[in-house]
Amino acid sequence: MKKILVTGGCGYIGVHTIVDLIQNGYDVISIDNNSRSNAFILEGAEKITGKKIKNYRIDLCNFDDTRAVFEENKDIKGIIHFAAYKAVGESVENPLMYFDNNMTSLVNILKCMQEFNISNFVFSSSCTVYGNPDSIPVTESFPLRPAESPYGHTKQMGEIVVSETVKNGNNKAILLRYFNPVGAHPSTNIGEIPLGKPANLVPAITQTAIGKIPVMHVYGTDYPTRDGSCVRDYIHVCDIAHAHTLALHYLIENKNKTNCDVFNLGTGNGYTVLEVIAAFEKVSGVKLNYTLGPRRNGDVIAIYANNDKAKNELNWTPQYDIDQMMATAWKWEQKIKNDENFFGGKNAVLN
Ligand code: WQD
Repeated sequence: MKKILVTGGCGYIGVHTIVDLIQNGYDVISIDNNSRSNAFILEGAEKITGKKIKNYRIDLCNFDDTRAVFEENKDIKGIIHFAAYKAVGESVENPLMYFDNNMTSLVNILKCMQEFNISNFVFSSSCTVYGNPDSIPVTESFPLRPAESPYGHTKQMGEIVVSETVKNGNNKAILLRYFNPVGAHPSTNIGEIPLGKPANLVPAITQTAIGKIPVMHVYGTDYPTRDGSCVRDYIHVCDIAHAHTLALHYLIENKNKTNCDVFNLGTGNGYTVLEVIAAFEKVSGVKLNYTLGPRRNGDVIAIYANNDKAKNELNWTPQYDIDQMMATAWKWEQKIKNDENFFGGKNAVLN
């Protein structure tokens, strides 16, 4: 079996991708220092796959520790790099922490990719690189706008570092630009582990619905959209995960058109904040307690993907619709409600 290294393997998208890789015949190891994740989540992945998953709890910003993992695993055939800080608000408060962590870890992993001659690299990017697009839907050839946050800058710089690194030579890469990943694995064995107060829409909805937070706020209803609230392309995390398996396969089979191909991962449908809330209320039967509040700085008015390239070249088709995204997110929230492993227990994440 081909061995794949997943960095950030205990994270939300990382653990879902590990499950999909294993179910598609790959052998997987993870590197995750659990500074923003919970190693306990791998037990959920093991329940789904029946496979033990090894996580190296090391800091990717330490080159020697990172290199040691490659020394011990000379049979790594591909790397999927998720590990990074990703809270937009936090990045504004502490830009240097974001530039240091996200860029140093990326450079270290790329150095090892070169030294150990691993020719397949998938980089976790984001639609945030498009900023506020002039028109929608966006294709991969749209111009990148100046990022709205240090987090967004690390994604834009990350794409440049990866593409310049693989420009010549036998390494090749794929950049995957996620739109808005939401939901949880239908087994409810894995899902998003909340870190402090939720910044993102769907965790804010489900935590309000379950009573973990008293009320949520819709950030702005005076935008030039069909109901005044912002439009996003919400995409189920399992669809995102499967795209990584297909991207890896595409590289291993040498189907890539350039040394650094780019793909949008979105459904191609845009939903407003109020439409997402309505979908959640419909599938959960819960009347959500929310207010209509002022705009949030840095929010893009509307963005959703043209996903033709991923459909045609990766043979990828999103399977989950908005109702299923809300239903799985809600099932997961109910599952972890009192689980001490996630809130205050032995494996609780340090906030
Ligand atoms: C979506 C919409 C909010 C919370 C960011 C990053 C992106 C990715 C996902 C990491 C916006 C509104 C939200 C709330 C609200 N991050 N909202 N009330 O900002 O599109 O994307 O997170 O991978 O890279 O840029 O996602 O879920 O924060 O917001 O009204 O309590 O929901 O204003 O319009 P966003 P989001």
